[in-house]
Amino acid sequence: MHIGTTLTNFIIESQRKFSGATGEFTGLLNDIAVACKKISDLVNKGDLVGILGTAGSENVQGEQQKKLDVISNEIFIEALAHNGHVAGLASEEMDEIYELPKQAPRGKYLVLFDPLDGSSNIDVNVSVGTIFSILKAPPGVDNPSTEDFLKPGTEQVAAGYCLYGPSTMMVLTTGQGTNMFTLDRDFGEFLLTHSDIQIPEDTQEFAVNASNMRFWEEPVQRYIDECLAGKDGPRGKDFNMRWIASMVAEVHRILTRGGIFMYPLDSKLQSKGQTGKLRLMYEANPMAFIIEQAGGAATTGRERILSMSPAAIHQRVPVVLGSKNEVDRLTGYHH
Ligand code: AHG
Ligand code: MN
Ligand code: MN
Ligand code: MN
Repeated sequence: MHIGTTLTNFIIESQRKFSGATGEFTGLLNDIAVACKKISDLVNKGDLVGILGTAGSENVQGEQQKKLDVISNEIFIEALAHNGHVAGLASEEMDEIYELPKQAPRGKYLVLFDPLDGSSNIDVNVSVGTIFSILKAPPGVDNPSTEDFLKPGTEQVAAGYCLYGPSTMMVLTTGQGTNMFTLDRDFGEFLLTHSDIQIPEDTQEFAVNASNMRFWEEPVQRYIDECLAGKDGPRGKDFNMRWIASMVAEVHRILTRGGIFMYPLDSKLQSKGQTGKLRLMYEANPMAFIIEQAGGAATTGRERILSMSPAAIHQRVPVVLGSKNEVDRLTGYHH
């Protein structure tokens, strides 16, 4: 599709191939785009509209909620719950899955989302984002159960994120490549600016929170040691490092110029009873889908993320994703 086309037109055109397409999916992505534009506007206004700081509450995962975590969650529900495109919602900021109001029309999709990713960055005016994953709802069920959401990532019909950075960008996959759209604020449309992204298979840039080094498992320790050894080490080349602490921004950098990102399992997480830092259903799965569709790879270090059978809506997993050859190398070190 030609560069400059609107997100709406892009979706309509890509849906044309499917006989029986009713426009519901187009409507759903439009709802999501509306929610993201509203969040983008608030993020942009920042302190002017009093949305920075903490909300004074905790989510089910024991994290302090920021005001904008809560507001973004409400914006998403508002945009999705009443239009007849979804049958249920799940979010990082809601303990349980969200049941639609009784009178709301039901649609054929389920949406799982991280309304504000990287929220520790919001108060310091650094990039944040929104991540979403779309599944098919079980047909004819008015109120899908938690089990209906617990599908492996391979069953996602679409996934995407919106990055609120210097520009606001939407990145989307429906399983036929990964495409990037940039929000033109003057007339409020996402326009296609990069089609069929391909992540370089090799890289000399890694992203990890290195303050956790002493807690890492041996394979991760070895991989990073080898990168740090540079030209004279076993890798024979120097590596650069980045850590933004917004997964959306890290994934965006990797789609743009390659790299490897990891939030591995470590003994500090384990001592808190956690099986990873990032959440499978609304962080790891959608990002893994986007990355694989761009020719990259995504594993837990041990297995492919998209093939995992989820056990709980807020399940945490270790994440290694990005340039294929580096992800394969680190995954190999675990075996
Ligand atoms: P969220 O803000 O949605 O809770 O997610 C934050 C995640 C992710 O975006 C980032 O990669 C990571 O947490 C940062 O963790 P550290 O603060 O441990 O570096
Ligand atoms: Mn959080
Ligand atoms: Mn997140
Ligand atoms: Mn979040």
